[in-house]
Amino acid sequence: MGPLQIKELLNTSPEKQTVTLKGWVRTKRESKNAIFIALNDGSTIHNIQAVAEPGQFSAELLQTVTTGSCLKITGQLVESLGSGQTVEVKIDDILVYGTADPDTYPLQPKRHSLEFLREIAHLRPRTNTFSAILRIRHALAFAVHQYFNDGGFFYLHTPVITASDAEGAGEMFRVTTLDLNKLPRTEEGNINFKEDFFGREANLTVSGQLEGELGAMALSKIYTFGPTFRAENSNTTRHLAEFWMIEPEMAFFELEDNMDLAEDFVKKVITYALTNCKDDLNFLQNRLAEEEKSKPQNERSLPLLEKLSFVVDNPFERLTYTEAIEILLKSKPHKEKKFQYPVGWGIDLSSEHERYLVEKHFKKPVILTNYPREIKSFYMKLDDDGKTVRAMDVLFPGIGEIIGGSQREENYEKLLGRVHEVGIDPQNLWWYLETRKFGTAPHSGFGLGFERLVQFVTGMGNIRDVIPFPRYPKSAEF
Ligand code: 4AD
Ligand code: MG
Repeated sequence: MGPLQIKELLNTSPEKQTVTLKGWVRTKRESKNAIFIALNDGSTIHNIQAVAEPGQFSAELLQTVTTGSCLKITGQLVESLGSGQTVEVKIDDILVYGTADPDTYPLQPKRHSLEFLREIAHLRPRTNTFSAILRIRHALAFAVHQYFNDGGFFYLHTPVITASDAEGAGEMFRVTTLDLNKLPRTEEGNINFKEDFFGREANLTVSGQLEGELGAMALSKIYTFGPTFRAENSNTTRHLAEFWMIEPEMAFFELEDNMDLAEDFVKKVITYALTNCKDDLNFLQNRLAEEEKSKPQNERSLPLLEKLSFVVDNPFERLTYTEAIEILLKSKPHKEKKFQYPVGWGIDLSSEHERYLVEKHFKKPVILTNYPREIKSFYMKLDDDGKTVRAMDVLFPGIGEIIGGSQREENYEKLLGRVHEVGIDPQNLWWYLETRKFGTAPHSGFGLGFERLVQFVTGMGNIRDVIPFPRYPKSAEF
């Protein structure tokens, strides 16, 4: 349906036939005998080469065929004698849909820095790197839905506007319908935010989990996949203010089942990308290899495809938080006081600790379980020792935490106790607490940060480069 795309054309046998192509010019090269136009329509990383004879078109027309201009080309599909492509198009006719003045068009046929491209997020999908990332991002999203659909999960749409702070971390963006010039005041004269959303408090969701749990208590296996917001002012390469999270939630799953699902799930979606995004992954692998050249041999990482295959082919390491602390206490950086944050039972592991475990000690993905209750959310099921909870974090090389999850506290009294303990008003969670009153059941779930997965698969160093329009403190205006 619709016009022929370059991807389809490249797989066509070069029998003489007339084709019409539409796309954006990547480069134009003129030699004595021919004019070569490399055209790309985003359907594939590959360009199609279109060839015209000198004098075939007016100089006036050819002048408007520049990098970034948009063309419709009609011509004959012929076998290509050039290397790197099997077919090319002998041009009969050119229509210029839109010009791109070379003096002002920001993208030129050279490698631009990722920082520069972040400033022009409206145009960067036209580069090879970003179009490859966006196609891989799409493939991964598709694989996520396919995986859960095949596994008998139902896609549950959870609200973006909510009154709850699912993580209890207070990192919420407020939603308000108030006239900021006429803010309602409490008796003490403070702004009354409780009336934010047509008379009720509201914020953007930090996680669909709590609503997801309601779904699992009816449909058994659900997943959410939607935008999530965190008003944390973290300027890191792993955090966004708006990111997409995938949160499966399963009735009758214990922590072990949850870990098995998480491991199988990430392996299957990565495998999908390996099978279906070969050209784009190869392109990104070569791009990374160029960057690695400047590093000393022993610091270079595995080629991208090898790294992905390794993760898919090997079991993740599973150990408890307590065991991880023991390893860290015996580690060289701890003994030599090289860690910025000191290690001890009860600390919230920082990325240097996680990276040591994953990249130096085990050299593979790690699932850490049974964290101290004090550093984890109120809804996690208490272990019998009363000190730890049935939490699990999946840690990936180069990324750190890619998944956070747990078995949930299904006992009403215990959950209410935790709610009080962390200072949440139970009134705000009455609907959540009721699931523990009516037909409660053991259940578990986890959240995968979609951008961190895309980062891992594409090998990109900065999370801002794997989402089309990144949102972070002081991000671009559109
Ligand atoms: O560990 P988190 O905060 O867990 C939850 O939100 C749970 N409700 C999930 C659940 O059990 N259903 O977040 C889960 C994952 C993290 O492991 C990380 O991959 C990602 O979400 N994440 C972020 N990604 C990008 N930017 C941020 N600011 C992120 N915060 C968390
Ligand atoms: Mg977490």
